[in-house]
Amino acid sequence: MIQKNRGLSAALICVVLALLPQGSQALLELSASGPDVASVLVGGNVTLGVSYSRASNAAIIWRRGLDPVATWTINTSAPPDIHPGLASVLGVSANGSLQFVGVTLDYSGGYSVEMTKSGQGTATLNFTLTVYERFEGVVLTWHPDSVVEGSKRWSLGYTMVRGVVQDATWTFGDTEIQTSDRYHVDLNNLVILAPVRTDSGPYTLTLRNPYSNATARTMVTVLYGPDEPEVTASPDLPFHVSGSSLNLSCGADSFPPPLYSWTFKGEKLDDGEVLTLTNVQTSHNGEYTCSAVNGETRTSQSKNVTLRVYESPGDSPVCSVLALGDLDLQYRCSWPGGTPPAQISFPGLDNSSAPGLLTLTVAATQNLSGTSVSCSASHPVLHASCNITAAAPAPFLPSLSFGVSSEGKIRVTMSCVSAAVPVAVVSWLKGTEAVNNSQVYSLSSTELTGEDHNITTFLLHQYTCSCRNPLGEQRRQIQLRAPVISDSSLFSNRDGTVVTLTWEVPPTSIVTGFEIQMQGPDLERSQGILPGRASSFRTIQQRPGSARSTDILNLDPKLNYKFRVVPKARLINGEPSAVQHIGPGSGLSGSAIAGIAAGIPGGILLLLLPIGFLCLLKHRHHNEQVRYPMTTDKGLKTKPELSPNNIRMAGGLNNYSPDYNRLHQAPSERSMDLPMFVPPAPVRVATTV
Ligand SMILES: *[C@@H]1O[C@H](CO)[C@@H](O)[C@H](O)[C@H]1NC(C)=O
Ligand SMILES: *[C@@H]1O[C@H](CO)[C@@H](O)[C@H](O)[C@H]1NC(C)=O
Ligand SMILES: *[C@@H]1O[C@H](CO)[C@@H](O)[C@H](O)[C@H]1NC(C)=O
Ligand SMILES: *[C@@H]1O[C@H](CO)[C@@H](O)[C@H](O)[C@H]1NC(C)=O
Ligand SMILES: *[C@@H]1O[C@H](CO)[C@@H](O)[C@H](O)[C@H]1NC(C)=O
Ligand SMILES: *[C@@H]1O[C@H](CO)[C@@H](O)[C@H](O)[C@H]1NC(C)=O
Ligand SMILES: *[C@@H]1O[C@H](CO)[C@@H](O)[C@H](O)[C@H]1NC(C)=O
Ligand SMILES: *[C@@H]1O[C@H](CO)[C@@H](O)[C@H](O)[C@H]1NC(C)=O
Ligand SMILES: *[C@@H]1O[C@H](CO)[C@@H](O)[C@H](O)[C@H]1NC(C)=O
Ligand SMILES: *[C@@H]1O[C@H](CO)[C@@H](O)[C@H](O)[C@H]1NC(C)=O
Ligand SMILES: *[C@@H]1O[C@H](CO)[C@@H](O)[C@H](O)[C@H]1NC(C)=O
Ligand SMILES: *[C@@H]1O[C@H](CO)[C@@H](O)[C@H](O)[C@H]1NC(C)=O
Repeated sequence: MIQKNRGLSAALICVVLALLPQGSQALLELSASGPDVASVLVGGNVTLGVSYSRASNAAIIWRRGLDPVATWTINTSAPPDIHPGLASVLGVSANGSLQFVGVTLDYSGGYSVEMTKSGQGTATLNFTLTVYERFEGVVLTWHPDSVVEGSKRWSLGYTMVRGVVQDATWTFGDTEIQTSDRYHVDLNNLVILAPVRTDSGPYTLTLRNPYSNATARTMVTVLYGPDEPEVTASPDLPFHVSGSSLNLSCGADSFPPPLYSWTFKGEKLDDGEVLTLTNVQTSHNGEYTCSAVNGETRTSQSKNVTLRVYESPGDSPVCSVLALGDLDLQYRCSWPGGTPPAQISFPGLDNSSAPGLLTLTVAATQNLSGTSVSCSASHPVLHASCNITAAAPAPFLPSLSFGVSSEGKIRVTMSCVSAAVPVAVVSWLKGTEAVNNSQVYSLSSTELTGEDHNITTFLLHQYTCSCRNPLGEQRRQIQLRAPVISDSSLFSNRDGTVVTLTWEVPPTSIVTGFEIQMQGPDLERSQGILPGRASSFRTIQQRPGSARSTDILNLDPKLNYKFRVVPKARLINGEPSAVQHIGPGSGLSGSAIAGIAAGIPGGILLLLLPIGFLCLLKHRHHNEQVRYPMTTDKGLKTKPELSPNNIRMAGGLNNYSPDYNRLHQAPSERSMDLPMFVPPAPVRVATTV
């Protein structure tokens, strides 16, 4: 059915040399009168024409292939001898040409004519006849059914109801396809070798023969993918802060478009191109796998993406410094929690760093005292710092308080508090001997408490407290004294019926209470006074250890009275105070009394100015003390008369170097105008020595 039009050799003339005697007649000459390659539409008429010369009545034989189909001797009256099966189509014309009438497709083929004339030899001539048919019902076919990228080959062919193809061309888009390393093209097929996705597109087949042409088109889509998916996060960040939301999008090139699914830690999540994660937590950290499946080719690809969810540590970093033995400091900075843990470092100390917690041990050199050491705590979400300053123990003043225990013992409490970082360790010496817990002494972190019936126990030795940390030490000595009154005075109202007695006690003097004694006539009305004779001192009041003044009422201004204060340590009486007089015979002038009664404290000072500077100093002290007459101890809770005697020890009254106690200094009292020697400012809270 399919014929190939091939050009024959250009030579049309074939001369056959017969074997003849020398000098004989000219040879037979035979040629085609028309084309030796003939085409005809099916059902049509065609003649394979020959012409010859120098021959008459020659014999001719037409052959199809090797089979004779017609023989005749030219110019004879006998008809040509034609193959009976072909007689309806074939005939031989008078000049020897082969005639076809109403040709059918099966007459296509190679024909040859042989002419023989005795004495002139034999000549042959070849013809090719192609019978064509018009194209009808051309349809493209392909194999296999679908073209998949990566397969070996895919071929496009065609079928038709009828038609004879002379020429077939394939085009892809507008480009004619030639055989190459990518394609193999022949009359029947187009073969695409190792098809790829770019081979998708329109393919056109054009069939031609001399009588008609036909085209057929098809769209080819090459199935491919999925390629390795790409996963992108939106927002696209190196990490996500816990509580935030994000989308993970998966995309893979594929035809048809792939189906996406997600897994996390082996668990299947939502299907779909976009995975939405809201309010992410650190538990969402890990590998997310996106799988893309091509539903046609059943091939799949997956891709992992690592999600990082960070959570900042709570609160803020905490810095501290501890004592490590006597010589070393351990700086410590911690910022627990967080994902990942914060990176902690002390850039000022060295270059080391650690996650979450860093402790650095350094020798306690003097220059560390007062130096702020900064800890840098670095977390991807947040950066923070904290500072710590180590400090050697600061100078301080001990504080003392005195009281009576429930067993009736004298109680002495000595406290040493020194500002220091790390906290100073307090130790105590009695004389040169370390003080341990015993029947008499009990130690707490900053206090030494002694309890004994015998006051001598406390007076025998000097006590020393030492506050130390690796950066240094501060020592203070305390010499306790027997009960004593350092100063006393007396004021009267205008009428002379009421006096106020005030007094002072040295801070180191052990005092648990006072007796107010009077010498003179009985008071007009009962004040719970003790009976006694007017000529001797008798106790008229008892005051707790914290008292520094008392009022005595119902005096007769016309009479003389004498008062004194007796300090007591439990049952032991100390030296009584100086005796204070009041009455017509005393030295107190009327104007002074009036000034006092008018409530102008300046009057007192005016009155006392001539007495001298020392007196002034004493009175100032006196006034200051009066401001806080009822100072009470923070720790001791006993019966009122047992309340402790809280005294601030003035530096000048003992052999301690004068010091400000930084801890206890109150701003309102700092500006006080102090005389030449600087005693510590009085404080409400505790008695400080
Ligand atoms: C072919 O020849 C026959 C007889 O000579 C004639 O009847 C017929 O019409 C011819 N056909 C064509 C297509 O010329
Ligand atoms: C031979 O005869 C046929 C018809 O009879 C004619 O068509 C053809 O031209 C002739 N050939 C020559 C060479 O005369
Ligand atoms: C056929 O023979 C006749 C006479 O018999 C002659 O006139 C004619 O030329 C011959 N034709 C050919 C082709 O030889
Ligand atoms: C004609 O064809 C035959 C066989 O097809 C071949 O052997 C021969 O050489 C051919 N003759 C010419 C002159 O082409
Ligand atoms: C194909 O046939 C159509 C008519 O059938 C004709 O117009 C066109 O020119 C032909 N094309 C070729 C390439 O032969
Ligand atoms: C995630 O996708 C949803 C809808 O696809 C959109 O509404 C939302 O804004 C996206 N979130 C982010 C963080 O891109
Ligand atoms: C993706 O992650 C899963 C689960 O963690 C693991 O089994 C798999 O091997 C990973 N695949 C690749 C390509 O890393
Ligand atoms: C940290 O300091 C030490 C010496 O002090 C040095 O040997 C080390 O290389 C430093 N490390 C870095 C990371 O700088
Ligand atoms: C502290 O002093 C020592 C030597 O006295 C010195 O080596 C060190 O660098 C100093 N440290 C600081 C923090 O100044
Ligand atoms: C620590 O000290 C540095 C300077 O020494 C200062 O910038 C920083 O704010 C301080 N940090 C804190 C938490 O006080
Ligand atoms: C106190 O205890 C220490 C050891 O704990 C000891 O060396 C010392 O002798 C003790 N002192 C007294 C007075 O017992
Ligand atoms: C008190 O103690 C001292 C010294 O220990 C002692 O001499 C004195 O006798 C004691 N007094 C009493 C009343 O026990």
